[in-house]
Amino acid sequence: MQKEYAVQMKNISKHFGGVKALTNVSLNVEKGEIHALIGENGAGKSTLMKILAGAYQKDHGEIIIDGKEAKISSPKDVINLGVSVIYQEFMLAPDLTVAENIFIDKLAGSGILINWKTLKKRAKEQLLKLGFDDIDPEAKVGSLSVAYQQIVEICKCLARDSKILVFDEPTAVLTFSETRKLLSIIQNLKASGVSIIYISHRLEELLEISDHITVLKDGNYVDTVATSSINKEELVAMMVGREITQLFPERKAEIGKEILKVENLHAGEVVKDVSFSVKSGEVVGFSGLVGSGRTETMRAIFGADKKDSGKVIYFGEEVNFKDPKEAINKGFGLLPEDRKKQGLLLEQSIRMNTTMASMFKIKKLGVINHKKEKDYVKELLASIATKYGSMEDNANSLSGGNQQKIALAKWLSADCKVLVFDEPTRGVDVGAKTEIYKIINQLAEEGVGVIVISSEMAEIIGMCDRAIVMRQGSITGEVDKSELTENNLIKLAMGV
Ligand SMILES: Nc1ncnc2c1ncn2[C@@H]1O[C@H](COP(=O)(O)OP(=O)(O)OP(=O)(O)O)[C@@H](O)[C@H]1O
Ligand SMILES: [Mg+2]
Repeated sequence: MQKEYAVQMKNISKHFGGVKALTNVSLNVEKGEIHALIGENGAGKSTLMKILAGAYQKDHGEIIIDGKEAKISSPKDVINLGVSVIYQEFMLAPDLTVAENIFIDKLAGSGILINWKTLKKRAKEQLLKLGFDDIDPEAKVGSLSVAYQQIVEICKCLARDSKILVFDEPTAVLTFSETRKLLSIIQNLKASGVSIIYISHRLEELLEISDHITVLKDGNYVDTVATSSINKEELVAMMVGREITQLFPERKAEIGKEILKVENLHAGEVVKDVSFSVKSGEVVGFSGLVGSGRTETMRAIFGADKKDSGKVIYFGEEVNFKDPKEAINKGFGLLPEDRKKQGLLLEQSIRMNTTMASMFKIKKLGVINHKKEKDYVKELLASIATKYGSMEDNANSLSGGNQQKIALAKWLSADCKVLVFDEPTRGVDVGAKTEIYKIINQLAEEGVGVIVISSEMAEIIGMCDRAIVMRQGSITGEVDKSELTENNLIKLAMGV
């Protein structure tokens, strides 16, 4: 039988200045299938999807939608063709409400009077359909957690009744239970005849739900395979061109004395009576669902948010960081989860972003030594396999995963004594993940106390000496290395 395709992209090429983002890439998505698109950070996945979405113009190639050549010159054309893209960096309006964002296409230029009550009701219905009716349709999107913003973005695209849906790393910001919900939504969409393109660095996920997988590498097409015919190891080898034998490298850190102790911390509406401690050379994991208060706890300690009560004892002395600057000066660093809002200055150069927190290292007699700075940046970025054109390019020219690496690089050499990594490998490819784990190990071996907040349980289990689990703003338990299993973490996270 002749295959029917929902989308065919043929020999697509695209360059940005001197960077060849795509060279003759093809993608054939069958009707009603889930087609996964994978590749390392910077491989060209998002660029290919932005071309499909009309956000970028291709240099070469052909796009066929539903058997007809599609002339795409703007995002509107594509929505009319029944294609909707859920971007890696969401496109929400933070100052509008959830309901307004979901129906934004219908609001813009509709000309007719809007019935706010109906809008709210329909938004509530959409959210309920997805199983997220705890999101308030009247809340401002900017006030939601990144995970919930992602859900709103998905709702917005579903509200268009598209025939073809693209998900660019939809689960990167989601934890276990939200991910499960989303995967079942995607499977239901498929069952109702929608064709889906699915991008993710979580290979288990796409092995579970996809029918075919297309692999890109350095802007080139590698292959398309039937998911049933391939395993994870083979997939990794296709992606990175080599085998990764050990995702979690061994650590030989000596665990020393207690350097951070938090007692009965309360902050805002979320954090309730949190107490824990961290020793030098130790890697402590923080596990829990979205909204469990892990990020808020760390922000309160770091001085990014106000703490209401409780003690923070740092190297034996009580401290009260009034802002992040004070914390950083005392050697307490935090890599935030939301790199777009807090982690990076996107309109500044890659070089500047990398050295922001460690200027003192390259300053000599009060003047920045440019040669030294450049060498240093080059070496540091190479150590975590960052892909970029020139270090003078703005940070927003980088692929999502490479932005994350820059945000991380900034902290690696800031000479911190305690470092909090909030979702350090979010959106990062498997090869680079191992590099990041090696660096965390190295920091611990140098005596740094490391806190890793992660929604990937495998990461907590593979990397941490022990894990603290939070639920609804409080600590529900602590799991020692020998007891670290998914089951134990889930039980504490769900409160069973
Ligand atoms: N607007 C832009 N300006 C300059 N270069 C860009 C731009 N967008 C993408 N690139 C470059 O194109 C290449 C492909 O990037 P793309 O975002 O498509 O990668 P990706 O496969 O989605 O990676 P990731 O997994 O990190 O999201 C990268 O080298 C990136 O730096
Ligand atoms: Mg991308």
